[in-house]
Amino acid sequence: MHRFNYQRSNLYAEGIKVENIIKQFGTPLYIYSANTILDHFFKLKHAFKVLNPLICFSMKSNSSLAIIRLLVKSGSGIDVVSGGELYKAIKAGCPGVKIVYAGVGKREDEIETAIKAGILFFNVESVPELEKINKIAKRCKKIQSVCIRLNPDVDAKTHKYITTGKKETKFGLPYKVAKSIFKNKSKYKNVKIEGIHLHIGSQIVRLDPFLKAIKVALELKKEVDFEYLNIGGGLGIIYKNEKPLLPDQYAREIEKLLKGSKVKLILEPGRFIVGNAGILVTRVVYFKKGINKNFAITDGGMNLLLRPALYEAYHEINLVKKKNKPKVKMDIVGPVCESSDFLGQDRILPVPKEGEALAVFGAGAYGSAMASVYNGHPLCAEVLVNEKEVYLVKKKENYRDLIQNDLIPDFLR
Ligand code: LLP
Repeated sequence: MHRFNYQRSNLYAEGIKVENIIKQFGTPLYIYSANTILDHFFKLKHAFKVLNPLICFSMKSNSSLAIIRLLVKSGSGIDVVSGGELYKAIKAGCPGVKIVYAGVGKREDEIETAIKAGILFFNVESVPELEKINKIAKRCKKIQSVCIRLNPDVDAKTHKYITTGKKETKFGLPYKVAKSIFKNKSKYKNVKIEGIHLHIGSQIVRLDPFLKAIKVALELKKEVDFEYLNIGGGLGIIYKNEKPLLPDQYAREIEKLLKGSKVKLILEPGRFIVGNAGILVTRVVYFKKGINKNFAITDGGMNLLLRPALYEAYHEINLVKKKNKPKVKMDIVGPVCESSDFLGQDRILPVPKEGEALAVFGAGAYGSAMASVYNGHPLCAEVLVNEKEVYLVKKKENYRDLIQNDLIPDFLR
């Protein structure tokens, strides 16, 4: 469910015509719906009310300060994976005790800052990392709580680039290693090892991989005791015709599995919360008839939404103002000099005129978060809609931003 709907032929973001929004803010433009985000957050929260987990929004999916703030104000914690994300989470007002920190490459400075910020847990991905956290915590005269990220060797049955729970991937620790860490807990005097963390992948639409992974963690719980179980994110959403898990169904099955285990649960949803809560609006610059193909060339492409180029991901695309004209097959492409720069391929749409706007749906997660300035296109503006109000939440970058950190050495002057 989301709040981007057509009324007659016009696309609305909540209670505002998208055409009016782009008149004010231009294109390309990311538009987010605040109430879609909240709706998803509370759907998950209600589905899990029996287990009452800490929900930590995975901000790698969308790191807009305004969106993080919206969720934090609603009681969400944050899942971060870098010093930069930690900085933003704190700036958005997230208390340290609601921050969990994953990632395979945590640097010393990042670890120290996080310890000083009083985060809830590091999700530890290797033995050297655990040793480093222990060493730094000692230096800071603190006892730092951590969870061990378990690699359960489970296939999430999703795109191979976003599968993270198989033994071939760089993530987490094998069962045996995790077990031996718990057995040797006392070696790490400045670390309190309190739980297991799992995250087996993203855009998962089946239940069994989740259950399999949790079963591996519960197997381990029979051998070593722990209090917290973080089951990560990964819940899939509808981009085309997927039949994703419903939060209630997901929650009921997990409840059944965890019955009697007394673990405290943590969730790290990203895509589920923001995926369908954002669209990218681009304008057609040219319509080009090719030999075998037609191309609608727009002012935003892989620079702003990388998912189609990187994973051949499908995003629904439609005219912001639908029209009753004959439809033809076309690729929707961006201005970037790469053949993989497409937003959609073989789409059947009315031939767009120059300047007509297209909406790319499902762009709220891993859209602006993965955008770049490749080919010298500054990042675009972002707005957040709340019913009939629209707020600028990210200014459009300008050309000066493109060079602000560049330096010309003296010998070239
Ligand atoms: N927790 C951890 C430790 C993660 O690595 C991730 C995502 C999440 C939670 C949130 O997962 P979600 O609920 O969003 O599935 N760029 C890719 C997705 C990469 C996901 C990385 N990890 C894409 O555009 O599909």
